[in-house]
Amino acid sequence: MRRPLIAGNWKMNTTINEGVALAKGLVDFSKTLNKDRDILICVPFTALYAIKQVVDGSKVRLGAQNMYFEEKGAFTGEISPVMLQDIGVDYVLIGHSERRQYFNETDELLNKKIKAALSHNLKPILCVGETLEQREKKIEKETIKKQIVNGLLGISADEMKKITVAYEPIWAIGTGKTATSEQAQEMILYIRNILKDIYGEEISDNTIIQYGGSVKGQNASEIMSKSDIDGALVGGASLKLEDFIQIISY
Ligand code: PGA
Repeated sequence: MRRPLIAGNWKMNTTINEGVALAKGLVDFSKTLNKDRDILICVPFTALYAIKQVVDGSKVRLGAQNMYFEEKGAFTGEISPVMLQDIGVDYVLIGHSERRQYFNETDELLNKKIKAALSHNLKPILCVGETLEQREKKIEKETIKKQIVNGLLGISADEMKKITVAYEPIWAIGTGKTATSEQAQEMILYIRNILKDIYGEEISDNTIIQYGGSVKGQNASEIMSKSDIDGALVGGASLKLEDFIQIISY
């Protein structure tokens, strides 16, 4: 049985005070939630430490939005897995489409980041997704396959148990255009089958695969009702407490 994971990705938003207030609201809400699901917030680096103090001991898990693969050294401006582990971070997003698009992160680099995260007890969420152009050219499946296969190169079955996958079609991110629940289900099932080819049925059946891209309170239930979709990665709507609560409560 897969336990759905509802994750907020705050992106480059919130000051420390704003973030702490949002996290406090979530922690309060999580005490009243009696549905079987995990809650995660991926917050800016600058707010991680303060928010860790807020969510510690609660049902809300804490995540970073990126990291570098080296442990330390002359990499000005980067954040290492050791630093995230030091704060007590549980999860880290790897390969969000904005990282791939604006910061030229390649599958090869992301593969190194996943390995580094795992070796420091951080749970990676590998994000994959195709552009609109790729979908129109009907190469969305091979695009996703490449991202999954290359991103997971050299990852063992045991390690795969700690990895979450998020399918986020780029054309649906921040655009208000959600993939239909059928489109999301189809691709997520396709991803599950790739995992089955690599790792076998048990690992594939147990991997949490989220959908992301314009998830809102109004469409969350419909998306989550699909058999292979195990939660959501939520951008915009995770920044407003009431909206995010509505999604978590689907
Ligand atoms: P969105 O972002 O919910 O604002 O579309 C999703 C994401 O980028 O993770």
